[in-house]
Amino acid sequence: MHLWEMGNQGIQNNINQATFSGAMDLFHIHTGAHDSRIIFGDSISNITSYLPSGKVVIITDEHVYQHQGHNFPDFPVIIIQPGEQNKTLASLEHIFAKLIEEEADRSTFVLGIGGGIVCDVAGFAASVYMRGLRFGFVATTLLSQVDASVGGKNGVNFNAFKNMLGVFNQPEFVLCDYSLLNTLPDREFTAGFAEVIKAAAIRDESLFTYLEKNASRALQRDPLVLHELVSRSVKIKASVVEADEREKGERRLLNFGHTFAHAIEKLSGVPHGEAVSIGMVLAANLSVRAGLLDVKASNRLSNLLVDFRLPVKPGVPVINLVAPMKQDKKREDLHIHFILLNAIGEAVVYPILINTLEETIHDLC
Ligand SMILES: NC(=O)c1ccc[n+]([C@@H]2O[C@H](COP(=O)([O-])OP(=O)(O)OC[C@H]3O[C@@H](n4cnc5c(N)ncnc54)[C@H](O)[C@@H]3O)[C@@H](O)[C@H]2O)c1
Repeated sequence: MHLWEMGNQGIQNNINQATFSGAMDLFHIHTGAHDSRIIFGDSISNITSYLPSGKVVIITDEHVYQHQGHNFPDFPVIIIQPGEQNKTLASLEHIFAKLIEEEADRSTFVLGIGGGIVCDVAGFAASVYMRGLRFGFVATTLLSQVDASVGGKNGVNFNAFKNMLGVFNQPEFVLCDYSLLNTLPDREFTAGFAEVIKAAAIRDESLFTYLEKNASRALQRDPLVLHELVSRSVKIKASVVEADEREKGERRLLNFGHTFAHAIEKLSGVPHGEAVSIGMVLAANLSVRAGLLDVKASNRLSNLLVDFRLPVKPGVPVINLVAPMKQDKKREDLHIHFILLNAIGEAVVYPILINTLEETIHDLC
């Protein structure tokens, strides 16, 4: 059993510096040929115990390196530029050139240390360099701990299309050290709660109630509450991914709020988590319109998002979301599969014909 403490890195004053006295928690995800370990609550200072012997190359971004580079193990580091605008083939080219410079070969292990963008890019780079290297992640944002590093989707944006190029490939491990979140700016930290609330909304009403009761402790970065939220969200995601790794059926439920969110991100450039928050409110409204969800439950969702200081209103007219939604890569033939709620904790797939989408969204407005 490992015990660890929140690092006192002198960041925001309101951060709870309490000692986390919980046990480290190890969780396995099994999909196809792969087994991925999620390590909750261990420290990045123990990372070498999870790495194979031999050559390791770290991939990170500039902000993470600036704030957390002093905690990195002593291996060569490839640094990419931060931000969604750099989740591109150009960043991959930079990584491939550096891997060649470092003489990385088939036995090299790639360690991504960063948020969702680093995980997506590093996982993709490792999956295609020399037809595939072994890789693992240290997730440094709340969003990547609860969602982005788990589930085996790796990829980059292409032209204006989000996550258009990529692969399904599970990391060997993901380490979630909550003390790394201390240097995360407030807005990025808060955005991560959208994916926790999503997990609760689609699968676990008791987690939803826990969130309602513990919003203020969570926002103060109380490590015990973070442990509960991260580990429960990951376990929900894992149960869905294990049943349907390649998103043919049940995995679609994880897209609750995301069809709207991708369109919102494209039009207004708000961070992913904030767009998911607004997207969930729109999807809940649609659920009410479709006669699936009662208004009280829909309001409960909006209230919880507001409690977590997340936005609930799109900054653009809802009707403007139709065009980018029609281009969503998740559209299948004549339909877009929206995820709606029957109740808090219970989601359903609700296909809408593309040619009735405009009318449906008009109705929603
Ligand atoms: N693959 C998946 O299943 C999956 C799931 C959800 C989201 N995503 C993707 O994840 C991305 C969003 O991830 P994100 O919200 O983690 O954003 P991010 O990776 O851009 O990180 C947010 C910002 O915080 C900085 N940062 C990261 N960790 C830090 C730390 N500990 N201290 C200080 N600064 C730090 C980053 O440099 C960046 O500026 C999107 O591209 C989204 O599409 C992927």
